[in-house]
Amino acid sequence: MERERVFIFDTTLRDGEQSPGASMSIEQKFEMAVQLARLGVDAIEAGFPVSSPKQFDGCRMIARKVKGPAITALARAVDNDLQAAYDSIREAERKRIHTFIASSPIHMKHKLKKDPDAVLEMACRAVKWARQRVDEVEFSPEDATRSDLPFLCRLVEQTIDAGATVINIPDTVGYAVPEEFGLFIRKLMEAVPNMDKAVLSVHCHNDLGLGVANSIAAVKNGARQVEVTVNGIGERAGNASLEEFVMAMNVRQDLLPFTTGIDTRQIYQSSRLLSNIIGFPIPRNKPIVGENAFAHESGIHQDGVIKHRATYEIMTPEDVGRDASTLVLGRHSGKHGFRRRLEELGLLLTDENLDAAYKSFLDLADRKKEVYDDDLYVIVRDQIGEQLDTYELIYFNFQSGNMAIPTATVRIKSEEKMLEEAATGDGPVDAMINAIDRALGISSKLLEYNVHAITPGRQAIGEVSVTVQIEDGRYIGRGASTDIVEASARAYLNAVNRYKTASR
Ligand code: KIV
Ligand code: ZN
Repeated sequence: MERERVFIFDTTLRDGEQSPGASMSIEQKFEMAVQLARLGVDAIEAGFPVSSPKQFDGCRMIARKVKGPAITALARAVDNDLQAAYDSIREAERKRIHTFIASSPIHMKHKLKKDPDAVLEMACRAVKWARQRVDEVEFSPEDATRSDLPFLCRLVEQTIDAGATVINIPDTVGYAVPEEFGLFIRKLMEAVPNMDKAVLSVHCHNDLGLGVANSIAAVKNGARQVEVTVNGIGERAGNASLEEFVMAMNVRQDLLPFTTGIDTRQIYQSSRLLSNIIGFPIPRNKPIVGENAFAHESGIHQDGVIKHRATYEIMTPEDVGRDASTLVLGRHSGKHGFRRRLEELGLLLTDENLDAAYKSFLDLADRKKEVYDDDLYVIVRDQIGEQLDTYELIYFNFQSGNMAIPTATVRIKSEEKMLEEAATGDGPVDAMINAIDRALGISSKLLEYNVHAITPGRQAIGEVSVTVQIEDGRYIGRGASTDIVEASARAYLNAVNRYKTASR
């Protein structure tokens, strides 16, 4: 059967980055954009350029260097935004301006303080402006699902006439339910006479956990672009998750006769990379990419899978790029084998970074017999992350015991200065954090602290993730080591480095 193409518009770097605590540096956004292109998305929404110089520069860097997908910048339907969006992406091979204005009564009245005719005029003007400069123009009536359908149809018809090539229907507040949303899309398709002149897209938020279900309902009713994010990150409860939507299309081809351009074998790597960059751990039970997604615990299930894999697996880990490691690395592995395994995992380093990463690998291999793929992700993450960091942990020492007052000493490098301090605390981790706070002259509040073993065995690498409040912001940090106190110090410093990056 001929299968129709559904375009994947990835907004990890724009809506995704709006998740509290998910802000990325320009270099990290670029690294993620390269991976998204490798994954095969059709469009990358690189940012909201008018909102800050960092957003603008991030879009420009991606536009200059990432080939393949349409590089998209977001703009409200006003001149400044549109100009910034255009300037940031003008060097892209394929460029798209995405402009939006709210169309629901509640947003028009309370937020915009404009009547429907004024909104209509602004939308058409913005679309025309953009279309005079780029070939691909996307228009979104924000909060579309709570808009009045006849007004929405008028707005869509007129923006298509003004030159929009993609009409995106956002369920901005994640309010829709699948059957209703599918019908809404169908009615829109039927009521807008020139709908065949544009691609109909949907952008579903996940406030009720229905983002993917709503996107699928929309595709079944005529939408041909979906807006998604890796790991489902995004405003509030997030957006429809790329990996879940794409795998639903793949697994249920019997009901969903559509294709995407996604190379599903790049899914796991994309998910890991994002999680490493923003510091959000992937929940163990997350579909497709969580640690337990392909783990069979009960005896009955294990027995079934051994006899015939498909008894309990609707897709294979290999389908999404989660191959079992074929090469176990250890103390005697050479640089060549190390590089090869990194390349197989899609982790491409410059020669200089490779040398430093190999050195970290040898240090780890000295402490641990076998080095797993997950260890390699951590080594590479630390290697790339350190270059962006303001503070580097050079030395630490702690004393603890049932008869001693826990005490820690740290030495931290900050540009060319060495900062050294000692402090006591309620335990070694508390003492370490107190010593870091003193050395850096900051005060913070530890909101969350979690430890888990990344790799198996008694010499497992333990990963600590922390959420720290500094001033008004919350920052997530992660650190890994075979020593839990060291991992805690690294996680804490990682959060402080994110605070520094965000306030630059
Ligand atoms: O959720 C939303 O409405 C948006 C628009 C800007 C598309 O993110
Ligand atoms: Zn959104």
